[in-house]
Amino acid sequence: MKLDGCGIRNLRNIRDMNVRFTDGLNLIRGNNAQGKTTVLEAIYLFARGRSFRTNKEAEFISFDSQTADIEIEYEDSVRKNRMSAHYSKSENRKLFKNGVQINRTSEFIGNFRAVLFTPDHLSLIKNAGADRRLFLDVALCQITPSYIARVKTYNNLLTQRNALLKERGAEDGQYQLLFETIAEQMAPAAAAITVMRSEYCRMLDGRVRDYFDQMTGGSEKISTAYESCVSDDRELLSDSEAVRQLYVRKFTENIQREIFMKTSLYGPQKDDINIELNGYPSRRYCSQGQQRSLAIALKLAEGDISNERTGEYPVYLLDDISGELDQRRNSFFMSQLGQRQIIVTSCNMKNSKKINNVITIKNGEVVS
Ligand SMILES: Nc1ncnc2c1ncn2[C@@H]1O[C@H](COP(=O)(O)OP(=O)(O)OP(=O)(O)O)[C@@H](O)[C@H]1O
Ligand SMILES: [Mg+2]
Repeated sequence: MKLDGCGIRNLRNIRDMNVRFTDGLNLIRGNNAQGKTTVLEAIYLFARGRSFRTNKEAEFISFDSQTADIEIEYEDSVRKNRMSAHYSKSENRKLFKNGVQINRTSEFIGNFRAVLFTPDHLSLIKNAGADRRLFLDVALCQITPSYIARVKTYNNLLTQRNALLKERGAEDGQYQLLFETIAEQMAPAAAAITVMRSEYCRMLDGRVRDYFDQMTGGSEKISTAYESCVSDDRELLSDSEAVRQLYVRKFTENIQREIFMKTSLYGPQKDDINIELNGYPSRRYCSQGQQRSLAIALKLAEGDISNERTGEYPVYLLDDISGELDQRRNSFFMSQLGQRQIIVTSCNMKNSKKINNVITIKNGEVVS
């Protein structure tokens, strides 16, 4: 997959910008607060369907504008494509691919695929489970179109269930039947999400292990597995019907406790990736350096899996990470990215022969 260009109007401090990209390594450089991350934010909107910096669209539209418009031109293995997005402070966003409006997010995500790596991801290992679930969700959305629909269905039902647990807590006896009906509706979506995430983690495991071995010389052993609230049997987690049945039971057998707690205590929203280093939970025992090596391994593996599933490497968007990595890890990461297209932002990266294209940004404008 190759990104040819991006047009941005009224996004944060960028008034009107057109940027062209080449194969290989593209560097966006400039001082702090000039708009470098905003360019990556614009591009990644097309991969994830929303901003990686905010959930509120009105926040990224320039202060003095009512609307923002972004477009990208990219090539996949079949053809050149053009996608655009129109955001407004007062209306719903409008999304287009090759001039045709797209109404469903699930049809928008998965066309242009990218892997994003920001300084925040360097603590992916130490952070709470929500960050690792987000890692799985963002990766899966781009390579498995049905995943988004399942998550949407599940989240809608979960919201209803939680509202019921809050509202009807005192009258629990009467609501047993209602909870049983919701359990039957939620279980297929919960099972689909669990099976897809668990399979993704199985694909991650070998790759993360290999990359981590190469970085550490093989002296430390890493393992990654999906941690589900219904079972820790990896084989069983690939059987949708078995997992569905486990969820039906899980969603009904703890209702008294959930009514007391006024929230749902089980489901994919509680799951995690269990990462162990030499048999110990990495979240508690990893050093800073080990966390960084692991984050790099996860991001490289994410691109490999996307390539295996779609036949093309995604575009890599790296936001100012080289300053956060030591020389050895940074060179390893860059060498592994090889010929993939990379767009990297930096305040201080030196120009080198490896960089194919340098874009300098000042006050939201390309100056060279
Ligand atoms: N809605 C908005 N309207 C106008 N300007 C905004 C808006 N949101 C953020 N900004 C400003 O946009 C500028 C660019 O931010 P951005 O994060 O892209 O900078 P950067 O070049 O990546 O900087 P750094 O090197 O510090 O990471 C900042 O000055 C920020 O305050
Ligand atoms: Mg930045």
